[in-house]
Amino acid sequence: MASKVLVTGGAGYIGSHTVVELQNNGFEVVIVDNLSNSNIDVLNRIQKITGKRPIFENFDLCDTEKIKLFFKKHNDIKAVIHFAAFKAVGESVSNPLKYYNNNLVSLVNLLQAMNENNISNLVFSSSCTVYGQPDELPVTEQSPIKEATCPYGYTKQVSEQVLKDSTSAYKFFKAIALRYFNPIGAHDSALIGELPLGVPNNLVPFITQTALGLRKQLSVFGDDYNTPDGTCIRDYIHVVDLAKSHVIAIQRLLKNNNINDFEFFNIGTGKGNSVLEVINTFERVTAQKLNYKITNRREGDIEQVYADTKYANFELGWKAEKTLEEALLSAWNWEKYYRNNLSNKE
Ligand code: UD1
Repeated sequence: MASKVLVTGGAGYIGSHTVVELQNNGFEVVIVDNLSNSNIDVLNRIQKITGKRPIFENFDLCDTEKIKLFFKKHNDIKAVIHFAAFKAVGESVSNPLKYYNNNLVSLVNLLQAMNENNISNLVFSSSCTVYGQPDELPVTEQSPIKEATCPYGYTKQVSEQVLKDSTSAYKFFKAIALRYFNPIGAHDSALIGELPLGVPNNLVPFITQTALGLRKQLSVFGDDYNTPDGTCIRDYIHVVDLAKSHVIAIQRLLKNNNINDFEFFNIGTGKGNSVLEVINTFERVTAQKLNYKITNRREGDIEQVYADTKYANFELGWKAEKTLEEALLSAWNWEKYYRNNLSNKE
């Protein structure tokens, strides 16, 4: 029988792509999402892609009563993937309590409920932000956890500590944290993709919205960094590659083969690209001219970070397969498709 997996935040950007991969691999999926940064129509589109509609429950994981009722109703869940969290770096600086409350309380509530319901397996949505600005590149899982640059980053560091302590105290608990680098791109179908509310904070949605004329101009935040072209360097990973790493992590937990209680992996491509390289590649693969200008640095940005992925490649048998070109083209196709065909329905 298909194992049932709870995906919190499953209507969101990375969550929806992961639900598709889980369903394509025979898992039954239950989504819990409060739709604070996503839209219910995503369920129809997941169904279009996979032929299956995930079960959906709309509530906030900060609500312990609702969680109790949920696990009573769904008493056959074998594993959980926890995406539901806020992720805007700037907003976390101006409103830290919103972040500490939502990101930490929901995790603790979820773990308590898993404990009470004897559910052992958790995959957690972590981030390369836990490394701060690393001293050495590429960054490995053994690189030191440096001071975070924002409250959002601290919530990811603390969450990992919560998992480490909980898996060591409650012996039946096992958790895998996937430390994402910079997820970009969209599903090949162009039916799901990244859809930030309001003005995008992240580079690629800002690029696609500018190319489509929804934004006037892209600002490149600084060209005086100590990098070959002066702009920041990141490890941009296609969201479908990223989604697949979650299926592997769930399979690993369910196999139960003597893995450590708490494991963490870098999920990136292993390759760093500068902001200008991303812009140039976008212009080349989409044949669009992008209106951009160089502006001041953005506060809190780190100069460069990219992953050493050997450990994930070896231990998980997972490797990023898609190129930056494919990722940018898919992001563009999604933006166009969404604006032309879907946005009027929402
Ligand atoms: C940050 C977090 C990351 C988190 C992500 C979620 C850190 C170090 N990284 O990624 O953990 O998962 O947000 O939102 O905390 N840029 C521009 N112009 C723009 C937007 C971005 O030049 O309009 C540049 C940035 O300066 C940066 C790069 O593009 O160099 C990527 O920025 P962004 O997409 O915002 O992601 P990060 O800040 O790397």
